[in-house]
Parts: sequence; C-alpha cells; structure tokens
Amino acid sequence: MSSMTPPLRTERLLIRDWSLDDVEAAYKIYGSSEVARWISTGAVDDVSAMRSVLEAWVEAQPNLVPPAGRWAVVRTEDGEVIGGLSLRLMPPFEEDFELNWQLRPDVWGQGYATEASRALIRWAFKQGLEEVFAVARAENKRAIATARRIGMEWVGETDKYYDGRRLQVFRCRPSDL
Ligand SMILES: CC(C)(COP(=O)(O)OP(=O)(O)OC[C@H]1O[C@@H](n2cnc3c(N)ncnc32)[C@H](O)[C@@H]1OP(=O)(O)O)[C@@H](O)C(=O)NCCC(=O)NCCS
Repeated sequence: MSSMTPPLRTERLLIRDWSLDDVEAAYKIYGSSEVARWISTGAVDDVSAMRSVLEAWVEAQPNLVPPAGRWAVVRTEDGEVIGGLSLRLMPPFEEDFELNWQLRPDVWGQGYATEASRALIRWAFKQGLEEVFAVARAENKRAIATARRIGMEWVGETDKYYDGRRLQVFRCRPSDL
C-alpha cells in the first residue's frame, strides 16, 4: 500500500507523513489558540503533549486504510512544516470521508490550504473515493472560504456528525475540481 500514499508535491508544497522530528513545528500549529478554537480536541498544551500526539499519529498512520491518513504540509521554499491535513471517516456512522486542514496562523492568507487540499483530494479520488466532505462551524469563515475556494459545494447544515454539533457541510466530487 505504501507506494500509493503521499508524498505529494504541488507548486509550493510537499504533503508527506508526519515524523517525530516535526514536534516543534507541529506545536506552532496545534498549540496555537487561533487554530485550536476550531478543533474539537482543543489546544495541545505544550511541546511534550505535542510529542505524545505526534507519536500516536506516526504509529497509527501505517494502519489506516487509504485514503484515510494524517499528513504534514511542508513549504518547499524553506522546508518548514506549516500545516497539517487529514482524511478520516466521520463519526458516528463512519460513512463520509472528511478532509481537515490546519495552518500555522502566520501563513494564513497565502492560499496554502487550498493548494494542499486540492492535491490531497485529487489523490483521494484516484484511490477510488467518490466524494469528500468538509464540515465547519458557521462562524469559521476562513474554513468555509477555503472549502468554497477548493470548489466544494455547500450541501447544508447538519448535527449528525460529532455529537450533535451544528455544522455546515461541504462536499467535493471529481467534477468539482
Ligand atoms: C482554515 C485555514 C486552513 C484557512 O487558511 P487560509 O490561509 O485562509 O486558506 P487558503 O489557503 O484558502 O488561503 C486563502 C487566502 O489566501 C489568499 N491567496 C493568496 N495567494 C493565493 C493562491 N495562490 N491561491 C489561493 N488563495 C491565495 C486568498 O486571497 C485568501 O486571502 P484572504 O483570506 O485574505 O481572503 C486556517 O484559517 C486555519 O488553520 N484555521 C484553523 C483550523 C480550521 O479551522 N480548520 C478547518 C476545520 S473545518
């Protein structure tokens, strides 16, 4: 299976597996309150907590069935890990694949989430996936703008995922890209 999984390259970015060497960079993303306020698990408290999270991600990755996975987004210009992407089946029914993206706040506004997401979605479609979803709280304007920029279509509001939280649902099919 490993030959079928990223690394993927785009014009400015590399999407690759997380490594334990990424702990400091990951903490700048997942420890930041601007990112964490939109994530159900909340902020990662410190570097040592980040290391535990990263260890769990690295350990889980080979056992996830593609296109499920978690990846680091690296800016090729300087080799910095500037974000993360994941694809997962959404709870509780585990029927719909969700794309999730996070960027370090100081690199927002440069199109990196859009660029990385498009590449990952294309790859997921090549694996045979027919549709990808993204969900966001209505107040998460940036996430919603990114979903639209990728070409995702708004399909409605739901509380069927994630313990009844009210979420906007976006969907992308191969013809939307
Ligand atoms: C959601 C998130 C990843 C979006 O980051 P972002 O940088 O705004 O996303 P994009 O990649 O779509 O970038 C779009 C911005 O870059 C600009 N841009 C510059 N160059 C661009 C390019 N080549 N292509 C596209 N957009 C470009 C756009 O004009 C837009 O600017 P604006 O925000 O001033 O309107 C980021 O806000 C984040 O990490 N949020 C917290 C976590 C989160 O909510 N994740 C989603 C959970 S549902």
